Amino acid sequence: MTRYFEPKYRTILEAEEGELEALQQQSAQDEWKPSFHIHPQYGLLNDPNGLAWFNGEYHVFYQWYPYGAYHGMKHWAHVSSKDLAQFKRHDTAIIPTEDYESHGAYSGASLQVGEELYLYYTGNVKYGPVERDAHQCLAIMNQDGEIRKYEHNPLIKGVPEGYTGHVRDPKVFEKNGHYYMLLGAQRMDETGAIIVYRSPDALDWTFMGELDVRINLSGYMWECPDYFELDGKDFLIFSPQGIEPEGEDFHNVFNTIYVAGELDTDSLTFQVDEYHELDKGFDFYAPQSFEAEGKRLLYGWAGVGEVDFPTDENKWAHCLTLPRELVRKGNRLHQRPDRSLDLLNGSEVAAGDMSSGKSEIDLGTIKAWRGELDLADSADTKLKLFHSAEESLNLTFDHASKKVSIDRSRMHHVTEPQFGTSREVTLNEGLRKIEVFIDHSIAEIFINDGEAVFTCRVFPLSEEKELAIEAGADLTYRITAMNRGI
Ligand code: FRU
Repeated sequence: MTRYFEPKYRTILEAEEGELEALQQQSAQDEWKPSFHIHPQYGLLNDPNGLAWFNGEYHVFYQWYPYGAYHGMKHWAHVSSKDLAQFKRHDTAIIPTEDYESHGAYSGASLQVGEELYLYYTGNVKYGPVERDAHQCLAIMNQDGEIRKYEHNPLIKGVPEGYTGHVRDPKVFEKNGHYYMLLGAQRMDETGAIIVYRSPDALDWTFMGELDVRINLSGYMWECPDYFELDGKDFLIFSPQGIEPEGEDFHNVFNTIYVAGELDTDSLTFQVDEYHELDKGFDFYAPQSFEAEGKRLLYGWAGVGEVDFPTDENKWAHCLTLPRELVRKGNRLHQRPDRSLDLLNGSEVAAGDMSSGKSEIDLGTIKAWRGELDLADSADTKLKLFHSAEESLNLTFDHASKKVSIDRSRMHHVTEPQFGTSREVTLNEGLRKIEVFIDHSIAEIFINDGEAVFTCRVFPLSEEKELAIEAGADLTYRITAMNRGI
């Protein structure tokens, strides 16, 4: 079959003279570029990939298309950090130059094997606008940080019988003396699934079958599976496409779910105790977890699908979330802003106590800050973020219903209004704590130490802002400027 051609399937090696420098210059001047969230220098970022603590450093890779704010030929970009706060950029880790990845090096995860870090990914091959095939591939990083493609790629050629060309996003882990690979897949009847391969050496893989996830939820494709055990419980995370909203959950074009239960690798079943939406905001997808220094950490893509942003004209799009520490609470996952973020704290902007009533905190033109609010008692509370005469992003807690909601309809730039402009979640008990991280064009809001998290992209007008607080009970607040991390 002949390969499909479109100009957007072009690697960085095929750039014209000066093209990449021009892209970099143009996106560097954009007023909405984050300063402590991992973002692309130019082009489009999507999923976090290959996350690892390896050789004394954190490694974060991400899906990257260099030539503009749309999805095209995907590369793996690479940043690293000693402390998960200050990141440095590296040369592109995976450039899809081979036939088995002719239309992109798609998402995947990493695993340390011996002294090396194995980076598993999907080689995407297109034969037409729709027709495609997928190969599972490997790149290897050594102790000197050099990355090479495995000489016997692809590890898994094509897709197993019964599935379309949509098979991708390997997550590899070791369990009971074997290596396992989970892949997101689409059955021939166009429903989503997770399939399983097994290997004795992390190189030679045998198809075992489909994972029976005992859940009444389908969709047409399941992307980016992730699996881990936390405090004696198994968790499966994946991003199903094409599911319907359920009450407060799944209101974005695509959504991310976590399932608490038990994985049985012999019978290939995942017994489901409970499942929930992972993040309650508008812009969150394809997260990946990894273990580092005794913690289970997670990054997500602070974006979803194909959206138009006001930054598109400056030829960059999207960022990752902040690193979050996952904490198990029964069958629930709480997501806490990782403690490494404290290393980015700058000067204190404001701090104080207030009793019920209103208060406005002048933030001037500060665009990167964190705010912590501790409530003496759960009570009606409202925060107006990015507040000016023109706009605000409103966070509202209603104590009677225990619902907390986020509403971006009062922002000047409203993205994706067709999916609704507010999201809400009912808290288990009351509201005790709110932590917000604001970084130019992203707000991440953590409620009650990560009981609920809202990830929202926002494109505020560049005027002076304040944080308006309406408190129903005594609370203390502290606003701290955040330093640049990347
Ligand atoms: C999820 C996803 C993955 C795929 C990658 C391509 O956002 O669609 O399934 O590997 O993005 O960039």
